[in-house]
Order: sequence, then C-alpha cells, then structure tokens
Amino acid sequence: MRDGFGREVDYLRVSLTQRCDLNCLYCGAGCPEGEELTPEQIEILVRAFVKTGVSKVRLTGGEPLLRKDLAEIAARVRAIPGVKTLALTTNGVCLAEKAQALRQAGVDAVNVSLDSLDEEVYRRLTGRNALASVLRGIGAALDAGFQRVRVNAVLIRGENDTQAEKLVDFARDNPVDVRFIELMPFSEQGKNDALVIKAAELLERFPYLTPLPPKNPGESVAKYYTAPGFKGRVGFISPVSEKFCARCSRVRLLSTGEVRPCLAYDTAYDLKPFLNDENRLIEAIEKAIRSKPAGHAFGCDYGNIHAMNKIGG
Ligand code: 5AD
Repeated sequence: MRDGFGREVDYLRVSLTQRCDLNCLYCGAGCPEGEELTPEQIEILVRAFVKTGVSKVRLTGGEPLLRKDLAEIAARVRAIPGVKTLALTTNGVCLAEKAQALRQAGVDAVNVSLDSLDEEVYRRLTGRNALASVLRGIGAALDAGFQRVRVNAVLIRGENDTQAEKLVDFARDNPVDVRFIELMPFSEQGKNDALVIKAAELLERFPYLTPLPPKNPGESVAKYYTAPGFKGRVGFISPVSEKFCARCSRVRLLSTGEVRPCLAYDTAYDLKPFLNDENRLIEAIEKAIRSKPAGHAFGCDYGNIHAMNKIGG
C-alpha cells in the first residue's frame, strides 16, 4: 500500500531478537534479552503485512543467527504467498554452520555486516576475535548458492577508515558486493559529524571506480561502482549526506511485536493485541504505514538515541 505521502511500502524488515554475540562499538548500549516473537506469531504478522502490500522481507536483529529456530522462521516466511524475496542480515559469526540450511529454508540473499578485514581492528570494534569465522561464513554463503551475498561496512574516522582499501579489494577478489554505509547518528560517534565519512569523501580515495547504471531504478538505495577485473561491485549508501526518505519503501517489525514506521523515530505500535484477529491486525499495520513521516533530519529532530541492536538498521 501507499503511505500518506504516496510512497509504496513493500519492504518489511523483521528484527528477530535484540540479542547479539558481539559487543560492538557501534551499538554501545549492550544487548538486552527481551521478549521475542515465536515462529507462529512471526508468520501471522508477516502474512498480515503481505496483505497490506509487502513483498520483500528481510530478517535482521540483533543477531538473527542467535535464534535456534531461524531456519524454521525463514521457511515459514518463505512459504507465505506474496513473499517474493527473503533476505537476511547477519554479523556472519555463526554463518558458516548455518548457510546451507538457511538457503534450503528459502533465504534468497544474505548481507553480512563486516566493518574491518584486519583482525586487530575487528576485535577492537566488536570485542571478539571472530574475523576468521565471519570470512568462513561469507565463503559458506557463496558455496550455498544464495542469489546475492553482500558485505555492509560502516567506517568511523580514526577507528576503521583504514579498512576502506581492503574492503574495496575484497569486492575485487570475490563475487560479493561491498557497500559502504554512512554512520548514522544513533550513538555518540554518529552524532559527531567529524567522525562520519561521507560517500563523496570516500569515493575520492578510489578514482578508478566507475559508476554503474542502476539495475532496477528505485530497487536499491545503493549506488554501485565497478573497475576492471572486479568480481563484485562497490556500493555507497548515504543516509546522512543523501537522505532517501523520499524513496523510503520500508516498514519495520521489532522483535517485541511492535511495528515501527520510521528508523529515525522511536514511535512504534504494538501489534501483539491483534494477533488473533487478522482484520484488526491489518488495520493496525495500515495505520502505522499511513503514519510514516515524510522524512527525518538525523541529528536534530529525532528523540532518544536507539541502538542498532534493537532494530537491525
Ligand atoms: N549507522 C550506520 N550503521 C550502523 N551500524 C551500527 N550502528 C550504525 C550506525 N549508527 C552497522 C555497523 C554494524 C552493523 C550491525 O550495523 O556496520 O556492524
């Protein structure tokens, strides 16, 4: 369905848990346990979202692989008529063991959040010595035959900006799209503009990258680049320097069963009371979609700082 500003909302991001097995500099706030929806409840909710026009679903967290029932959740969501694509975002730490089962359960594409290819820097950012596991996870995902495997990286000046070259080389050497996402103001670092590395600045470091025409206009918020000999693409996602609110097609389901109309606002509506009544559920979702704000101005008009672990980006 269209929201109050005429934008088609067809992309649902489902946070399955707030738990995470990393302790990242980015999230800061730690990872609360919290209540989690059951696979049955998730299926009921996604079914209702699909009836409002959602066709693309992404499972995220926290860290979704911490849920032992992830493959079951994926299979249930995949079986819902109207779900055209099912994707997953993970930190990749436990992906190597699970990739095959997730592909079999019907997950089409995997995004791995990886902010460093240097072991020492990775450990400093995440509190864990897990880079080798993540790289194994990416390899296993490629072997499992997902339609797309992507790496998402967020640079923080002085922390991991040295990693940009290594990450671009990773896209050269692997059939993996590496996307640089601008640090958003959800933490103290993000609120410090001096630490945010904008896409334009980053691109200057890679004069040999040439822009690719968008494959499906409106399909992705990333702008992709390539260079001779590259197996993967290099993408730039610029939520800070080039807000894409005007093209926002997203709605978010939190692990607690609340629907959230916009990433930048804490506003959320509890859907759990309507789990037994699909009509009221659809009504509540439609109300939330209609209430999507026209846009936001990161850094000045949003309320509480919220950590990425709660919402999965
Ligand atoms: N802005 C953009 N991306 C973020 N991430 C975490 N916090 C932010 C933020 N404020 C990304 C990082 C991290 C992943 C879980 O989410 O890449 O690895």
